[in-house]
Amino acid sequence: MRLKVILSGSVLGVIALMAFDFHVFNRPVELKLPSNFPEPVYDFKTNPLTEAGIQLGKELFYDGKLSRTGVVSCGFCHQQPSAFTHHGHEVSHGVDDRLGKRNSLPISNLIWMKTFFWDGGVNHLDFVPLNPMENPLEMDETLENVLKKLNESEHYRAAFRQAFGVDEIKSTEFLKALSQFTATLISANSRYDKYVRNEGAQLTAQELNGLALFKSKCSSCHATDLFTDGSYRNNGITSDFRFDKGREEVTSDVTDRGKFKVPSLRNVEYTDPYMHDGRLTSLEEVLNHYSDGVKISETLDPLLLKDGRPGIALTESEKADIITFLKTLTDKEFLADKRFSEY
Ligand code: HEC
Ligand code: HEC
Repeated sequence: MRLKVILSGSVLGVIALMAFDFHVFNRPVELKLPSNFPEPVYDFKTNPLTEAGIQLGKELFYDGKLSRTGVVSCGFCHQQPSAFTHHGHEVSHGVDDRLGKRNSLPISNLIWMKTFFWDGGVNHLDFVPLNPMENPLEMDETLENVLKKLNESEHYRAAFRQAFGVDEIKSTEFLKALSQFTATLISANSRYDKYVRNEGAQLTAQELNGLALFKSKCSSCHATDLFTDGSYRNNGITSDFRFDKGREEVTSDVTDRGKFKVPSLRNVEYTDPYMHDGRLTSLEEVLNHYSDGVKISETLDPLLLKDGRPGIALTESEKADIITFLKTLTDKEFLADKRFSEY
């Protein structure tokens, strides 16, 4: 009797599910946005998050199929334990060990960004993947060929059908799936966050002093709780831009020469080496750069040239305090969150 009830229940269930569309299998997901962050930039109305969409995006992110050689996935250069940057690599390291010219950017809190890459060459999250995929020094593949490989896979066809209700995988759904995953990469649970949101975390006297110094000396550029104002600036790392002109490469405007994205400093303890070309290897070197290493050039940010003297005045103990503060931006939950990891 019991068995009969269960059986007929499940038969009914199957019939009911067949009558609905794919959304029945695919629950919508609402992202929890941190209260200390501004409004996101990404428009979720154009790409509503779903469980199946996020899962599919994650699979694509870790799949070498997106590259010509089958081994270089997004996750190859963006590794979770180092906040999704490529730890230990000054510049990107792609197919056949080819080297690029820029340091892999960490990825988190992307839905708050208006522009992407060190030079801001892309202005929508959905179009970011085309850049590494088609770059001969990174994944060296074509979108067309990636779509062909995905369409040849029974598994991916089923996954796209479930997530987007499509029978053929086209670029729109492919790019949306990747964004669904990368949109979820939110880092907002560091000790600093729990301190500013009054969630019971304390900062030490030295960390608080570092925070006060940071606010007066660094936060004009590394602004808000995203720790970037999203602008492009020349922080005096070099005065020779023949190798990399930065933002000028996108705008063709000479006043943008040597300007690079102000990077977020979240998880900065784990994102070394630092700067667009990975030339600095420790936070001590970064602070020494700001105090004594700033190079003058025509586009040097005026904030770094006070009364004709380049740099930011800092004593050794102030530098140490700022570094202690920067380490409170480490978000251990984010770096180990199973929802983001390959396995
Ligand atoms: C070969 C290494 C490599 C691979 C593979 C790679 N990236 Fe990147 N990624 C980089 C580098 C280097 C940068 C910075 C490049 C620049 O600014 O010119 C970057 C930048 C980014 C950014 C910009 C972050 C910001 O703050 O502006 C995002 C997002 C991103 N990658 C996502 C992806 C995705 C998604 C994939 C897979 C489709 C991928 N990457 C594959 C090396 C890589
Ligand atoms: C005038 C704006 C400005 C000010 C002020 C400033 N920065 Fe930066 N910062 C930048 C820019 C731009 C970059 C990237 C430059 C590049 O790669 O060429 C950067 C890069 C960094 C990086 C490297 C991050 C990474 O992922 O590579 C760290 C760390 C850093 N800044 C910390 C600080 C600290 C600490 C202060 C205060 C002492 C400070 N910054 C003040 C603009 C600024």
